[in-house]
Amino acid sequence: TGPKVDIAVDPLEGTTLCAKDMAGSIAVMAMAEAGSLLNAPDVYMDKLAIGPGFAPDTVTLDMDPAARVAALAKAKGCQAEDITVCILERPRHSAMIAAVRSTGASIRLITDGDVAGVMHCADPATGIDMYMGEGGAPEGVLAAAALKCMGGQIYGRLLFRNDDEKARAAKAGITDLDRIYTRDEMVTQDVIFAATGVTSGSLLAAVHREPGWLTCETLLMRSKTGSVRRINYRTPTHTV
Ligand code: FBP
Repeated sequence: TGPKVDIAVDPLEGTTLCAKDMAGSIAVMAMAEAGSLLNAPDVYMDKLAIGPGFAPDTVTLDMDPAARVAALAKAKGCQAEDITVCILERPRHSAMIAAVRSTGASIRLITDGDVAGVMHCADPATGIDMYMGEGGAPEGVLAAAALKCMGGQIYGRLLFRNDDEKARAAKAGITDLDRIYTRDEMVTQDVIFAATGVTSGSLLAAVHREPGWLTCETLLMRSKTGSVRRINYRTPTHTV
């Protein structure tokens, strides 16, 4: 009887981080009016994100990594050396990492979790100015939802390695395989975004267990109002 909605969910973003009890795994969900979240197939997406306060297309996916650093430094009125770029540490990114290093910019390598990696661009406390690289497409839509609430830009282009992956796109109703999606094309209407910490991280505390109690921390954001709530939830693990 309620309104129809789209839900994007990754119940455990950073599975390996969680398995190794490393920082940064989160449970994440976005919800918006039906038809407004990109139905991203399970393929890779080339992503580029920056925080709020910049003109559209300050950086673009068509720029090479060094040009992106130069363009962002120019827009910020600083030197390339003052820019920090977050990148997933993967062999496929070695040329990108070398290109960014050649500019003098700093690099924050993460082993997993690019939803949080993108979100870091919108949080000055992290010191991260830009996120770039290839990661999961569904994670790209979740990251776009987060930035729609926090401010900031993200661009994404789906990547296809074979016909099977192209078939997944067709099944999801995607016909233009080369399209570059902006944040507002991945998330076309207002969205609610929630992330709960699983292991500890710079965004959220870990789920904490103590005898009889379980505590967790959730970040809940709405793009319509720009509101950000932090919810500390504590529940008994036994029936009271
Ligand atoms: P999972 O939690 O599904 O393992 O995803 C973790 C992650 O690091 C994502 O944040 C990222 O988009 C993707 O994996 C990158 O894929 P790959 O590990 O294949 O490079």
